[in-house]
Amino acid sequence: MIEINAIKCHIGGMASITIRNLDESTKQALRERAARNGRSMEEEARLLLAELEQGAGSVEVAASGRPQAGPAVAARPSPEPAISGFPAAGKRVLLIISGGIAAYKSLDLIRRLRERGVRVRAVMTAAAQQFITPLSVGALTADKVFTDLFDREDEHDVGHIRLARDCDLVVVAPATADLMAKMANGLANDLASTALLATNRPVLIAPAMNPAMWSHKATRRNAESLRRDGIHFIGPMAGEMAESGEAGEGRMAEPMQVVEKIGELLDTRPKPLKGKRAIVTSGPTHEPIDPVRYIANRSSGKQGHAIAEALADLGAEVILVSGPVSIPDPKGCEVVRVESAREMQRMVEAALPADIAVMVAAVADWRSKGEAKEKMKKEGGKGPSHLELTENPDILKGLGHHKQRPGLLIGFAAETEKIVEHARAKLERKKADWIVANDVSPDSGIGTTEGGVMGGDRNRVRILTREGVEEWPELTKQQVARRLAARICDHLAAVTATA
Ligand code: PMT
Repeated sequence: MIEINAIKCHIGGMASITIRNLDESTKQALRERAARNGRSMEEEARLLLAELEQGAGSVEVAASGRPQAGPAVAARPSPEPAISGFPAAGKRVLLIISGGIAAYKSLDLIRRLRERGVRVRAVMTAAAQQFITPLSVGALTADKVFTDLFDREDEHDVGHIRLARDCDLVVVAPATADLMAKMANGLANDLASTALLATNRPVLIAPAMNPAMWSHKATRRNAESLRRDGIHFIGPMAGEMAESGEAGEGRMAEPMQVVEKIGELLDTRPKPLKGKRAIVTSGPTHEPIDPVRYIANRSSGKQGHAIAEALADLGAEVILVSGPVSIPDPKGCEVVRVESAREMQRMVEAALPADIAVMVAAVADWRSKGEAKEKMKKEGGKGPSHLELTENPDILKGLGHHKQRPGLLIGFAAETEKIVEHARAKLERKKADWIVANDVSPDSGIGTTEGGVMGGDRNRVRILTREGVEEWPELTKQQVARRLAARICDHLAAVTATA
């Protein structure tokens, strides 16, 4: 058993734990427990201390074999992430911070990763410490910060080889031209470059440097070698440089872009739609009347975008054709932006062939017949101008009759009365396989405080197929999207099984 006082620890400036001060038997017990849990001794000791601080008094660790029964304390579960559903939650990232003005972005990166349940351990180069301090990095990682290859204490507790491998992904952010050059040439003369040479984990780098340095032939060569070696890149982005008033390609990607890339690289969820191509439409269309006016509707794009993202999450290659919306692009999708119904139709047809098409957009049924070249004038005393309308093409119906008809064609129906009856008529008329019907009337009782189904965050849908009608409960639009994506997977699996 390790008693609380048996672990001689000192919480220094960076909350370090001195394992070499422990007596041999305690150290052996800790070593075995760490090995069983796949952690470093230092990490194991830190978790034990955290348990003890929470009032356990003592933590039982068998000198050999399994942990003893009794008041033993299991390893502390990671704190509940503030933001759930991140594909890399529970994973461990070794963040290497090299020296550049963009080092300040690594602080935000640590915060964003931790609030998504990712454990972050940091290594800082000497140059990085000229820009930000180990104190601030350690405060955000809630862990020791590693800075020195020849630190006797660190080598004893963790060791640079273990440090390089005790993680799921190594992230270098920012990655300077100097560190990239070392990586490309296999140099290992400090802790960061040694860890990068010793790691057997995937590596992601976020280059950040002056545009002239990024476009220099030597850096281009190094970047090319690193890509060939399988190193993943995010950025650099084009824009203004923080330090010099210069602009060009060389800015470090924003912390959230790095977070998304990390999520992508560490996403181990099953991808049943891998190899399938899906077209999704979303949002309203804007039908011009004159250069400043248009016909539109209240669709926000929330439902269509959520469906696009849910399909991409399951591995589909998704082309989202979206009308004008003010919400962010869904993750993992190629987004094609359009204004009018005719433009949407062109882009949808250009995206064929597809295995799946989900037509969620609220396409305007009519447009103004002839767009006025000049702003239409209010002519005093003559009353309102007459607006002549003409019918827009029906994109869904066009796909239903297309020679490259998608294998599974799903339409939506926005109804205010006789929901099932009207939706069923659309299923037949437009030659769709399924229609997702939703009640968009103001008295549907759904999301009334947010403006209803069209524009709001919730939906209640019925799925009409040739076999019947499924009633789904009221859900968030993300839940509807995930259920629909899962329903699509099941359907395609059943079709494959019977083929
Ligand atoms: O965007 P949100 O605020 O999240 O709101 C979501 C939504 C209410 C817009 C969505 O859930 C929805 O119901 N979308 C379909 C809206 C619609 O135009 O319904 P409709 O019944 O008029 O059209 C039936 C189907 O034909 C739809 O798949 C539509 O995309 C398609 N259509 C309609 C007209 C047209 N000219 N071409 C089409 O392809």
